[in-house]
Amino acid sequence: MSANTPVPQHDSPGREVLSADRGTALPVRFENPGLVPHRHRMADVDPKAAKRAERQVATLFAISALGTLLTLVAYFSIKFDTPMSFMEHMARTRLSTTLLGIGLTMALFGLGAGAVHWAKTLMPDEERVEDRHLQRGSDADRRDAVGILKEGAAESGLGRRPLIRNSLIGALALVPLPALAFLRDTGPMPGNNLSTTMWKAGLKLLSDPQGAPVKAADLRLGSVVHIVPEGLNEVPDYLEEKAKSAVLVIRLDPALLDPVSVPGSYEGIVAYSKICTHMGCPVALYEQQTHHLLCPCHQSTFDVTQNCKVIFGPAKRNLPQLPITVDADGYLVAKSGFHEAVGPSFWERG
Ligand code: FES
Repeated sequence: MSANTPVPQHDSPGREVLSADRGTALPVRFENPGLVPHRHRMADVDPKAAKRAERQVATLFAISALGTLLTLVAYFSIKFDTPMSFMEHMARTRLSTTLLGIGLTMALFGLGAGAVHWAKTLMPDEERVEDRHLQRGSDADRRDAVGILKEGAAESGLGRRPLIRNSLIGALALVPLPALAFLRDTGPMPGNNLSTTMWKAGLKLLSDPQGAPVKAADLRLGSVVHIVPEGLNEVPDYLEEKAKSAVLVIRLDPALLDPVSVPGSYEGIVAYSKICTHMGCPVALYEQQTHHLLCPCHQSTFDVTQNCKVIFGPAKRNLPQLPITVDADGYLVAKSGFHEAVGPSFWERG
């Protein structure tokens, strides 16, 4: 430590004593300047000003409530479900977003500004000095802290100022409503859409993209056909359904099939979901020699002779098998839907 380094000493509370350094102009003591004189607010000394502040706070909370109502009215009254021209659609969109923005701004600003104004003008305005101490207070300090919290709650004046209390309760009760209304726009609940496809017993297997039914007798050993379900073009959500229902049909030597695959096969013909169980890419690369199906995205590899078990890669589940048979004319049809969900794993599937 150099000769000029101040050495704090404490000879009395609130004073710092510095070592005297001969030959320099440093004072021996720095006096504690203390707190600047407290200036009382208007509302502390003038009851009229307090009343005025109270009305201002209530007005801000009322603005918040009005903003919430405006948001809800704008959301429900400006409709987009009737036929309209592009320009009219643009005009309604602009009106809707403008009113929603103004309403939400009023709702949130009114609530925040009201709370700040309340705290700055009406809540107790004391300055307290607290000396530093150990992190954990003594039991007495802790009791004091609880007392201060209770005192603060009492001093906030909620009990004494019913106008503020009621307007705050009203604004707080209304402000979550737009969030509830907006949640509706995230679309309908998925229901069991993620777990089911349109495949069911009796649906013909149609080749993709030709859309022609597939005769079992036309498939030679090693043949691979991309399949979609009969009636796919008529469903409203055509693309979503196709993304779930796509299937690969492969003809194998029946002797190669493992016992698990046999009940869902027809004379060595097997049908498996084409949607990779890793992240949903189409599994479309078939190696005829090894009977492996390969996903091009991350190289998950499935063994067709073993019920499409994963033999390599990040996928965790077999490709689901679509049980098939033939109809009276010899065309391939589904025996039932899939017995498990197709596509990537998610939290409910493990
Ligand atoms: Fe098929 Fe990743 S999506 S391996």
